[in-house]
Amino acid sequence: MFRQPEGWIARGGWTQCVEAGHSGAVDIVIGLDFGTSYTKAAVGFRDKIFPVTWDGVSKCEPNYLLPSEYTELRDGSLFIGQHPNARSDEIRNDLKLPFINPAVSRSSIGAASTFIALVLRYVRAWVFHHHGDKLGRAHLRWQLNIGAPSNGLESTQLARAYHALAATGWRRSLETNPQRLAGSASELWQEGEALPDLVDHQVRPEFVAQMAGYMQSPQRQRGLHALVDVGGGTLDVVTFNVHQVDEEDTFPFLVPQVHALGTHGLIQNRLLGVEADGLTRAVDELAPIDAAPVFARATGVAEAHVVSRDALFRAELQRVIKSVFDITKSRRYRLSDAWRTGIRTFFTGGGALFDLYREALKTMPVPSTQGLHLMPLPPHKNLDGFTGGVHEYQRISVACGLAQDAFTLGRIVPAKEVEDDRPVVPTYRSSRPDRDDLYPK
Ligand SMILES: Nc1ncnc2c1ncn2[C@@H]1O[C@H](COP(=O)(O)OP(=O)(O)OP(=O)(O)O)[C@@H](O)[C@H]1O
Ligand SMILES: [Mg+2]
Repeated sequence: MFRQPEGWIARGGWTQCVEAGHSGAVDIVIGLDFGTSYTKAAVGFRDKIFPVTWDGVSKCEPNYLLPSEYTELRDGSLFIGQHPNARSDEIRNDLKLPFINPAVSRSSIGAASTFIALVLRYVRAWVFHHHGDKLGRAHLRWQLNIGAPSNGLESTQLARAYHALAATGWRRSLETNPQRLAGSASELWQEGEALPDLVDHQVRPEFVAQMAGYMQSPQRQRGLHALVDVGGGTLDVVTFNVHQVDEEDTFPFLVPQVHALGTHGLIQNRLLGVEADGLTRAVDELAPIDAAPVFARATGVAEAHVVSRDALFRAELQRVIKSVFDITKSRRYRLSDAWRTGIRTFFTGGGALFDLYREALKTMPVPSTQGLHLMPLPPHKNLDGFTGGVHEYQRISVACGLAQDAFTLGRIVPAKEVEDDRPVVPTYRSSRPDRDDLYPK
């Protein structure tokens, strides 16, 4: 999948399309969905959202997916992807896995920041290359929104880690030698340190970004919703309320849960108890997941073993997903109509294409008489330059939603600020939003 970077990528070391003699200004928002398996990005400006294509640096198909890995050769030169001359210890992947733990180390943030810096430099070069004519001589004011899991804002520590990642990535991307980065991975950005030409950087829950297209679509409804995202690293399950206060979209989170039950977890589970040297073929964690018999044939693992491990995995999936709905019903939003009419549930992420996850979700007992209404996310109305259909859109929905300024994304109320829905007289807490502001009356 490696592609020698094209010449125009060197331009990305700059933040401006034209260096001097600016006339007018344009705000550009970069939406960055840094994934365990694949990174996706989009840029938003002048009321349009353009998904970034990675063909200038990768042969990955479809071209809006970029494997989250880079190469650092012994001479210090850096490349997105796996350089053909690289030894295995010069390839850096599993960059996002450490972020599942809020206590992610500085060295893990630093390693991931190298990848983010290479990506940001590519994104700016891509804007200049593909959209330079629309920008003319305008002064560019950049904003960067990076996605976090649904529980990302529940922990200040994790939110800080994502901030440091985005900001360090920006700072290091400002280097014009295309095989080098500015500074070093061990010098993380510090709170308060200014960043050239970056007017704002924010950490936003991925599902809120995904909801942006739905919120502006005719399908939009108020009330209880759920989103289940099956990524490479994590299964992210969240229930939330869609609501408006003073005409502003508001998303009180009810129950956000993130578990290491993404597709990498599914593969690890299949290989549990299997000796690595007993495999006839290494497993590619980026490739689409194979059904049990195909996986067994390809790897030499006994089919009965794969089938029984999958059954355990499926039971665990159902257990954690069910618990989110049970807690939502018993403590967070007892009186929602959705317990009668069905719960509008968006089902997204690369793993959602694998039957085991879909079946687990569809056959699961949930505390709603009409079950779950699985729905695809409607594409954002401002989407431009994307040739894929509604199913392909699911993969870039996080990045597209993030490519909008914070106000357009709506007001986010993390679960820790939403009181339980218990039948008790609530005590007044001035720091929390009023419950009437969070639930439909
Ligand atoms: N057609 C498919 N069938 C089955 N599995 C697929 C298919 N396409 C992708 N996948 C799986 O989906 C995974 C990637 O999904 P996705 O891009 O949503 O993950 P991510 O965003 O990188 O991870 P995370 O959100 O956990 O950080 C791949 O690793 C692959 O195993
Ligand atoms: Mg993802």
